[in-house]
Amino acid sequence: MKKISDLDVAGKTVLLRADFNVPLAKDGSGVITDDGRIVASLPTIKALTEAGAKVVVVAHLGRPKGVGFEASGSLAPVAARLGELLGTEVKLAGDVTGESARATVAALQPGEVALLENIRFDGRETSKDEAQRKELAAELAAMADVYVSDGFGVVHRKQASVTDVAELLPNAAGLLVEKEVSSFSKVLANPDRPYVVILGGSKVSDKLGVIDNLIDNVDRLLIGGGMAYTFLAARGHAVGDSLLEADQIDAVKGYLAKAQEKGIELLIPVDTRVSVAFPSKDDPAPENKVVASSGIPDGWMGLDIGPETIALFASKVADARTVVWNGPMGVFEFDAFAAGTLEVAQAIAASGAFSVIGGGDSAAAVRKLGLEDGFSHISTGGGASLELLEGKTLPGLAVLEG
Ligand code: 3PG
Repeated sequence: MKKISDLDVAGKTVLLRADFNVPLAKDGSGVITDDGRIVASLPTIKALTEAGAKVVVVAHLGRPKGVGFEASGSLAPVAARLGELLGTEVKLAGDVTGESARATVAALQPGEVALLENIRFDGRETSKDEAQRKELAAELAAMADVYVSDGFGVVHRKQASVTDVAELLPNAAGLLVEKEVSSFSKVLANPDRPYVVILGGSKVSDKLGVIDNLIDNVDRLLIGGGMAYTFLAARGHAVGDSLLEADQIDAVKGYLAKAQEKGIELLIPVDTRVSVAFPSKDDPAPENKVVASSGIPDGWMGLDIGPETIALFASKVADARTVVWNGPMGVFEFDAFAAGTLEVAQAIAASGAFSVIGGGDSAAAVRKLGLEDGFSHISTGGGASLELLEGKTLPGLAVLEG
């Protein structure tokens, strides 16, 4: 992959793919509840504007229908936040490659930044029909001289603004993509040991590929979150009303056996905070208590790891030299069930290990808990980071010039 420092961008129009797919408040106010992805794009945008480029950012928000403008999918809140963070106006085109986009780009001066409207308003972006994607990519490429790929969160997608356009222009990886790729390469190819992987989140089925790819390389695998209950069930424990993927029990038994055979420490929760109901805004802390994981009573659901598990996991992380963490340990959005995620995050931060935190929920948890500074790298990619951990080749990276 080329770097942006390999490109001559002075006076040129740079088409920059960013991932601004940020969470918005559910009340329709357009308030961005976690601007981490916008903040992560700043170094590349600043490097390009400082080098005298005209920067045209392409991004998506949500999954609109692809039949034109939808107010709820507009990038207007993103343009405003990006402008605030850059301390300069970011012009938002009213369309993707139409008259407004072309006029906005034509009016850009070196050092200025504009944003095209949500690329997914154009159905060709995500089309399975290659000809459709290539047509949109050609319209994007016609507006620019150079392409920079910095939307790490979408590099696992084969889409017009991610892969097809890269084939049409001189290109390079942005600073964020460069940092993401080097962080994941380090933990995948060359981890210092002990090497600890912590997996959580709700579904074990989302993590099978990661376990498959990492189980031969890790020293310790710690399992928490909703997926832990399928591991508990595979060990023969009752899990009450906890999340359970019964169709994955055999796969999980296979991992338990493989870990034992290879001498890998595979740890599952020894105690669990159980609740009589799932928390909600109206009832954020339903009746709850800590029980042994081997004895989750009927009518109760596990929503966080318990204090003994927290201490156990913290002790397994303390001397680690490399930690990968993907998926929260419990329902951290509610304080009553956030202790596991908080304390595991604190233990990773305190270990001084080279630590990579997967995107999506784990990154959101770290930011919600104000612990961003404790980690070597917090990924901005949810699906993309999982696919890298699964050992896959990502199309948006493979397409970049060598
Ligand atoms: C993400 O939020 O993980 C990325 O922006 C990709 O979004 P998508 O899953 O809608 O392609």
